Amino acid sequence: MRLTVIGTGYLGATHAACMAELGHEVLGVDVDPEKIAALSAGKVPFHEPGLPELIAKHTASGRLRFTTSYAEAGAFGEVHFVCVGTPQRRDSDAADLTYVDAAFAALAAHAAPDALLVGKSTVPVGTAGRLARTCDPEVAWNPEFLREGFAVEDTLRPDRLVFGVESARAETILRAVYAPVLAAGTPLVTADFPTAELVKTAANAFLATKISFINAMAEVCEAAGGDVRTLAEALGHDDRIGPKFLSAGVGFGGGCLPKDIRAFAHRADELGTPLSFLREVDAINMRRRDRVAQLARELCGGDVLGVRVAVLGAAFKPGSDDIRDSPALAVAARLRLEGADVTVHDPEAMDNARKAFPLLGYALTAEDALRGAGLVLHLTEWPQFRAIDPERAAMLVARPRIVDGRGVLDADRWTAAGWRFRALGRPA
Ligand code: UGA
Repeated sequence: MRLTVIGTGYLGATHAACMAELGHEVLGVDVDPEKIAALSAGKVPFHEPGLPELIAKHTASGRLRFTTSYAEAGAFGEVHFVCVGTPQRRDSDAADLTYVDAAFAALAAHAAPDALLVGKSTVPVGTAGRLARTCDPEVAWNPEFLREGFAVEDTLRPDRLVFGVESARAETILRAVYAPVLAAGTPLVTADFPTAELVKTAANAFLATKISFINAMAEVCEAAGGDVRTLAEALGHDDRIGPKFLSAGVGFGGGCLPKDIRAFAHRADELGTPLSFLREVDAINMRRRDRVAQLARELCGGDVLGVRVAVLGAAFKPGSDDIRDSPALAVAARLRLEGADVTVHDPEAMDNARKAFPLLGYALTAEDALRGAGLVLHLTEWPQFRAIDPERAAMLVARPRIVDGRGVLDADRWTAAGWRFRALGRPA
């Protein structure tokens, strides 16, 4: 089939490459000519395992091309996937639908009358219906659940497909697009528009709630002298709870969970069905950053003024170079404001971090960051950081003091190597 993918960020670039891998002819569309030039040359402007190879493979095979022209997209596509961003608005918690609206308006003007316009962006419930009423070609909604770092895998072998459709024709077209994925046994849920939109926001709200739940338990453990790691392990053995998304730490960040729960709470208020617990989920998440800063001050005898602080991690999670709403950088910037001399190291996110936080110091290796430090903060759980030898690290730093903001370092080993070790959700 001939597909277009509108918007070539994380979601769109991955979707375009994976649709080519499924055997379709794909045209990726973006308003940013630099992005289009890079992708056409097989270059991916962000870190995503397996994606550069897939894009290179299919730009070479001719099955994947890129353009800035909606006219070209309209003439080419039978099915158009809209994968543009829905960031948080500047003036409120609501989602900014400028890009979604613009993409659908442009497609309405250029697409063939019998084309199918498929939204994949995360939108407030009610958006698909509104767009369907204003567009001539038929609209469908097909939310996306990919995780950064596993984007290709999650697209080719998703946990489930969700089709929000208003006609049998739209369902038939989407079934044809995803035929190989469905043939592999992937569960399919077909739904009306509001339900399809809600599956996405509800899933992210649930995941964020699970993380904030365990982080709230970490707060209780800190006050009561318990150990949240052991608590989470024991809770996770209950099948109904499960062990995933129970890692307590400095909290969630990234381009999705934080803004999605805010937009969902905002939309629920508009609908008169408030989800006020989501604001508490957000607040718990933010408090974890405060707690790391507080532990840093405690370890330094009251304040961090003049202390050389090594921050291990800048990406919002390991396996990614994405620094959007990164807890690690938020803590680093806070301590800098409090007068610390902060040096950050991250295996992948250094360029992005430097651009967004030019006033922080940066070290090319973890060793360089540690050298001479009076305090170490472990804030993104890259395997490289877990592999650091505490004895060797103790020889590099000026004062062996560390806060484990991800709860994955071996406290006994670090303490045995002479470190003053504090972790979130665990006894001092
Ligand atoms: C998230 C969802 O997991 C995807 O299903 C969804 O499609 C995506 O958002 C989206 O809406 O596009 P992602 O932002 O890539 O994916 O990252 P996650 O792996 O979910 O991690 C989110 C944050 O939670 C990270 O900062 C991570 O460090 C943190 N986290 C995760 C914890 O603090 N504890 C955990 O136990 C798990």
